[in-house]
Amino acid sequence: MKKRHKMLLQIVVFGFIILGIYFVWNRNNNNNSKLPNIKYSNEAITIMKEQNILKEIEQKDYSKTIEIMLLNHDLKHKYLNAYYEIKEQERTDFTKLVNLFLDKNYTPAEINDILEYLNDKNLNQLKEMEYVNLQEYVKISNMEVDKIERYKSYQVANQTNAQDAVTKVNIGLDQEFYSEISTIKNPNSYTVLLNKYRGLPKDYAPNDLTSLSINPNYKLRAKAAEAYEQLQSAALLDNVKFFPFSAYRTEQYQTRLYNNYVNRDGKKAADTYSARPRHSEHETGLAVDIRSNGLSDNLTDNDYKWMLNNSYKYGFIVRYPKGSMPITGYIEEPWHLRYIGVDIATDIHEKNITFDEYYDLYLKDKEKMA
Ligand code: DAL
Ligand code: ZN
Repeated sequence: MKKRHKMLLQIVVFGFIILGIYFVWNRNNNNNSKLPNIKYSNEAITIMKEQNILKEIEQKDYSKTIEIMLLNHDLKHKYLNAYYEIKEQERTDFTKLVNLFLDKNYTPAEINDILEYLNDKNLNQLKEMEYVNLQEYVKISNMEVDKIERYKSYQVANQTNAQDAVTKVNIGLDQEFYSEISTIKNPNSYTVLLNKYRGLPKDYAPNDLTSLSINPNYKLRAKAAEAYEQLQSAALLDNVKFFPFSAYRTEQYQTRLYNNYVNRDGKKAADTYSARPRHSEHETGLAVDIRSNGLSDNLTDNDYKWMLNNSYKYGFIVRYPKGSMPITGYIEEPWHLRYIGVDIATDIHEKNITFDEYYDLYLKDKEKMA
């Protein structure tokens, strides 16, 4: 019995020792896994200690954003919880931007979107503004933050989606035609956009006008003239025969033309089919009006169809197609071709949108850089 007691005691003592070792080991181990120093750099941990926040951060998961805020000496204690919800970004001004937008009362989710989606121009503007509720507009690539209120009003008034509101307002469509005109800075660009909101500088004239072979009185800019010859030859192969009846026009000529229309039909009507001076693509040498063989100033249905399906291959678009009046302000003009280059003409053809929309969505930033 005595022997058995002794053995039992030994087993119990041994068990306690094992348990003790386990607890000690386990505590150390747990501490280690909780301690951020497994991931946080020593420098970050030193700063945590300095700021007396080591204990607080120990309780939480590792956050790269916290690490970056610490290393840049930009961590603000009051925003500790917010930082955990902010995705880190590789940019030198990251910590400053995060604090700046937190100061402006943006939520972490909003800040994540702002830093992910806004271009530099928008970001710089937003930095200077009071809090703006960007809503879903933040993800729209052609959005401009200083127009947010106009987008919102347009969207409500027209019962449309955010993307449509952005593009339409950017074109200017929430304002009357010709009420807010900007002067085009790069009139010599082959991808220049003219409409009722954008006009040429006074007395602009292209310097590479070239006569069309069929009639030297009709001129287009060099590349447009060359493309016109190709278009004409290709069409002929399909038995589509057409002639130019208007090409390059000077500002003076467009002025006379427009004034004559106004005198004949009144301004309101004239504006639906004629551009005001400095607003006609004919003044850029990139537009040509064509008529079918046998007609005086229009295309036959067959020729129009051919043009809609083929002109893009030679760099031309039908600039004012059916249904585009709410955007262009002009009635359908089957005869008015605009040279824009094969790539863009093809893209516009595929996307089936007006040049005004295309320009805002895909070209304006490139034009500004050019
Ligand atoms: N007819 C077109 C719109 C122009 O005058 O340029
Ligand atoms: Zn025309």
